[in-house]
Parts: sequence; structure tokens; C-alpha cells
Amino acid sequence: MLFQTSSLVGLAFISSVLCSSDATTTVTGLAASAPTAGPSKLTGSVPALGWNGWNAYGCGISATNVLAAANQMVSLGLQAAGYQYVNIDDCWALTARNTTTMTITPDPSKFPKGISGLAADVHALGLKIGIYSDAGTETCSGFPGSLGYEAIDAATFSSWGIDYNCNVPSNWSDSSTPQDNDWYNSNSAIRYRQMAGALAAQSRPIQFDLCIWGNANVWTWGARVGHSWRMAGDTSATWSYITSIIVSNVQYLSYEGFYAHNDMDMMEIGNGDLTIEEQRTHFAAWCFLKSPILLGTDLSLLSAAQIAIVTNAGLLAFHQDATYGAPAFPFTASASAPVTSPPEYYSGQSSKGIHVFIINIGDSAASKTFSFANVPSLGGGPYTVHDMWAGADVSGTFTGSYTVTVAAHDSVAFLVKPSTAFTSTTSSVVTSTSSSTSSTQTSTTSSKSSTTSSTSTSTSASASSSAVATVPEYGQCAGVGYTGSTGKFMTFFC
Ligand SMILES: *[C@@H]1O[C@H](CO)[C@@H](O)[C@H](O)[C@H]1NC(C)=O
Ligand SMILES: *[C@@H]1O[C@H](CO)[C@@H](O)[C@H](O)[C@H]1NC(C)=O
Repeated sequence: MLFQTSSLVGLAFISSVLCSSDATTTVTGLAASAPTAGPSKLTGSVPALGWNGWNAYGCGISATNVLAAANQMVSLGLQAAGYQYVNIDDCWALTARNTTTMTITPDPSKFPKGISGLAADVHALGLKIGIYSDAGTETCSGFPGSLGYEAIDAATFSSWGIDYNCNVPSNWSDSSTPQDNDWYNSNSAIRYRQMAGALAAQSRPIQFDLCIWGNANVWTWGARVGHSWRMAGDTSATWSYITSIIVSNVQYLSYEGFYAHNDMDMMEIGNGDLTIEEQRTHFAAWCFLKSPILLGTDLSLLSAAQIAIVTNAGLLAFHQDATYGAPAFPFTASASAPVTSPPEYYSGQSSKGIHVFIINIGDSAASKTFSFANVPSLGGGPYTVHDMWAGADVSGTFTGSYTVTVAAHDSVAFLVKPSTAFTSTTSSVVTSTSSSTSSTQTSTTSSKSSTTSSTSTSTSASASSSAVATVPEYGQCAGVGYTGSTGKFMTFFC
């Protein structure tokens, strides 16, 4: 959230560009030696699913609108689809720490029952709550940061919440590669390691997302510190952003797995003027690249078509798969397939089998063909093709290759099954609503749109994640979170 990072690419430099830096602040309270504690294995195995209030409310966040979002997550079927986290972003605190306890105090005008009171209300709905924090001296909006107060804040968060972010003292930044070439030992990483160590000292498992915008080669050390890490600057509701974040992410997919996720930032569905096709691609890509998915809009304003997108059971099942932790990877679709940026063809494995995802990055509808033999783990065929958006098989069987027409900026998602193993009863990937898929589905065949049975309301995703008694996540910037019936939230770091 908060802040523009367009110039921050790749390495080094997590310095003054991030909000304003403070070169003079003396930071005390840091661990004598940089903690080496890793993230909890009791939470965060699969990418988080939830909501973050920043895009909808900014600094206008309050217990009222957080609780409203939590109730909407239930009433709109998001919880049933697997969404769990309700995350508070910046601006929840008073501007000064309590001078006696040095703790951060929730703003009583926004949170009359404190964060702990709100957390209890959210937990009563069966959801989890997260909060934003900062790995600097101040948050992006000028509230207390956690640098030097990690132990106090982690303990506070463990009693109700968390915190960390943007104003990074200049001598805590990096302007060059660390001597041993391991960015885990960079000043940037050490700031996050302070909070990781403080969180590890709490009895409650806390999911920790690092918001470092792709700086300091975070993908190389993120899994040693937290469960997920932001790969680029803040989102915007534009097609160019969606494609740029995919571009910056796909080269680092090999760092992902269970407890290790590249965070592509919040969903922009519901914001701006993205076409329905672009929204489909936005959601699908975040699913098949296994980014945390935090809806970033006023949920009450989402249309039925948008709700159908973000609750697509097949895509969420891939995202939350408990057996295969890796994301989908780009593959060369055929000998004649052009090289594009971002790539258009991806394949990956889930408990259900081998999947193919295709994005049409072009500005007009186009025919897309892939050879089955070019898909890792597949051969010539014959295959049955299951359309994950429609929740139904495409009629017929296919050998050699498959061709589909994809609308401009739209995407298709398939489960490719050996035809001999064909079965029509793939209930767990059946989408719960057909309205949006039929109206936006411009691809493939006709068979799928007519058969939108709607059995499965709870996906395997929700089942697997609810079995983990913890909290995931982050928000926008980095965060820690936790959960459980008695737990509270998470923090985000910026
Ligand atoms: C930055 O300066 C402060 C104040 O002198 C000091 O406590 C801290 O250790 C320094 N940080 C680094 C990474 O050298
Ligand atoms: C600071 O914390 C103490 C202990 O919880 C509390 O009694 C006091 O009222 C707090 N001060 C302020 C200004 O909130």
C-alpha cells in the first residue's frame, strides 16, 4: 500500500525512496544479533485468501467497516469458498506510543473496543484478522513503526495484534550487495528478521508477510523470514499493472512452494475500469502463480459476475492445493509459439492433475494453440479438457494439440485429463454460479456453458486451510497475522 515505488526495481535500494527516510533517528531495542528464527510452520503453507481495507477505505478504516467486510465475506459466500482473513491496513493507531508501556495504542475513535474487541467479533464469524505494521520507524501514513520495538509489538500483537513499515533510517538501507552476496544478511533483511524473531517468541503462530516491494532480492531469503513477500510496488487497477507484475514475478517462480509465496499484492477487482476479461485474468493469474489473494475493494459493491470470478472453485482449489505447493510455470506451447512478455502459456500440477492456463495479452480476440506434448508431464493424447471457468468438460476428446479462442486480455484455465480416465463427476471443481462464466466466456466450446451444475460450495481449499489453526497473512505491506479461535491478527510490513 501506500507509496509509489516505480523506480524500485530489482536490487538494493530500499532506502529513501520509500516514503521519506529518516537519517537521524536512533533506533534502540533491536536484538543484539540479527535473529535467525524462521516463520511458523503452523500457518501459511498455502497462500492466504482474504480482504484488505486499504483500497476501499484508506485511512478511513474503522471497526465498523472492517466488521462490515467480515460479515460480507460470510454473506457473499467468500468464506465458504475459502476466504479467511480480514486485514486492517495502515492508520489504525494513535500517532504516539504509550509512554509508559511503549505499546502502540489503537485509535479509540476508530476502534472503540480496541483491536482485541474487533478481533473477537471477527473470530466469532469464523474468520481471522490481520493488521499492518512497519519495518521502519513510522508507517507510510506516519503512525508508529515497529523498528526497534519488535519484541513489544509482537507481544502486543500476540495479545491482540501487530505492526511494522516505511520510514527506514538511511543506515538501515542497502545500496550495494552484501559482502557475502547473501541478501539474507542485508540491512533490509535484518530489519524483517527482527520481527520474525519477535514473532517466533510468541506462543501464537503468526503468518508473516514481508512488504518489501521486490527489493533486496527478497525472493532469495523471504522464506527464511516469512511466509510471503511482496514482489513489486503497490497495485493499481490497470491492465498494464497486472501484466507488469506478472512479468516481474514469473522469473522467480522457482522460489515458491509451501510456506513460500511471491506476493503480487491485492486484488483490484471492483476498482477502476478493468474489463470483466481483465478481472478474470487478474484473478486467475494470482491463483495459478500462487500469490496471496486479498480482495481490495468494498465487497458490498461487487457484482454477481465479480463474486463468481473470485469464488471460482477450480482456480481456488489449484491455489490452495494441499499436495502440490508449486505454482504454474510458463511453457513453450508449440514450435511456432511466439515468445511474449508476459508469457501467455502456463502449466502446473494439482491434486486433480495437469493444468494449462492461457492469457491472451493481445488487444483483440485470438486463437491460442498448445501441443499436449509440450506440456510437462503430458504426451500426445487423447485427452479430455475440463474448463475450470465453466466447471465443465469441453465436449469431445483431443489428440496432439488443443486450440481455443481467447478474448482480448482474457484467460482460460483447463484441467487436462487422459481421456481413458475421463469422468464427468468432478464435483469439486464445479463452479458455484454460471452467470458470469457464461457471459464472459468467449473461448472454447459450447458444451461447458450449458452445464454449470453448482454443487460444491466449499472447495478443498477451504477445507485444507481451515485445518491449519493459524493465521495467515499480510496485507499489503508486510504483515503478521494469526488466528485461531483465540488468536488475533497479523501484521503487515511496508
Ligand atoms: C544505524 O544507526 C543507529 C544509530 O547510530 C545504530 O544503532 C544502528 O545499529 C545502525 N544500523 C546499522 C545497520 O548499522
Ligand atoms: C498507557 O498504558 C498504561 C498501562 O496499560 C495505561 O494505564 C495508560 O492509561 C496508558 N496511557 C495512555 C495515555 O493511554
